[in-house]
Amino acid sequence: MRSKRVGGLTVEVYRDMRELINAAAELLFSQLRSKKESVIGLATGSTFLPFYAYVSANYRKEGISFRDAVTFNLDEYYPIANEDSNSYHSYMTANLFSKIDIQAANVHIPDGSAVNPDLEVMEYEGAILRAGGIDLQFLGIGRNGHIGFNEPGTSFESRTHVTSLTDSTLAANRPFFPDSGSPMPVKAITMGIATILSAHRLVLLAFGKTKSDALYAALNGPVTKEVPASVLRKHGKATFMVDEDALGEMF
Ligand code: GLP
Repeated sequence: MRSKRVGGLTVEVYRDMRELINAAAELLFSQLRSKKESVIGLATGSTFLPFYAYVSANYRKEGISFRDAVTFNLDEYYPIANEDSNSYHSYMTANLFSKIDIQAANVHIPDGSAVNPDLEVMEYEGAILRAGGIDLQFLGIGRNGHIGFNEPGTSFESRTHVTSLTDSTLAANRPFFPDSGSPMPVKAITMGIATILSAHRLVLLAFGKTKSDALYAALNGPVTKEVPASVLRKHGKATFMVDEDALGEMF
């Protein structure tokens, strides 16, 4: 692994996805080793499938327990039933929560079936605050530079809110909504940029060539709300864990 400082953040470059995933899992394990009641922010998407597979397969032999850990997911489609197979609730249950010893009461995901979404977003912010804030937040990056579901143009001051998905995000995520299933929601509930920046430590994972344009814009362009991930350069304790493919020729 080689690393480089870009603005306030550290970029760690791994040879391939496997090395990157092992290192990201070790970061989570060491966080839980040092504080078993850690508050962990979790992400979804294809990037996190190998991560959750590795974490769930290895946590016991690493001597880790999630019994006292608390989790907050970044986002959920809106509207969507929690039990819909395409919801992030279902994704998290299938890929992580059903495979680790976390307590259901300690798991938080925005409620895509909330009748009053304005109330839901306020309650979600309140729950994060009551938990004492997020110790370690994992993030992916969208092809247009989004983090969570904070699409280009989202205010850096935003807290948890309802958002409309862009065409780019709808196209990227449509494969997760097979024709036979429910129609893809065009909105989502997401932690805001300010919510994400409130986390004590941030770790963004990106691998594969499809992420290289978004990474280039986030690391080399101006810090602008048109590229939401660029704001992470201002955080101070943010790390991008990327592989050589995602970095391309950047450095
Ligand atoms: C999705 C999620 C993001 C995720 C991103 C990348 O829309 N809301 O949290 O980081 O897009 O997804 P993937 O890992 O599938 O490329």
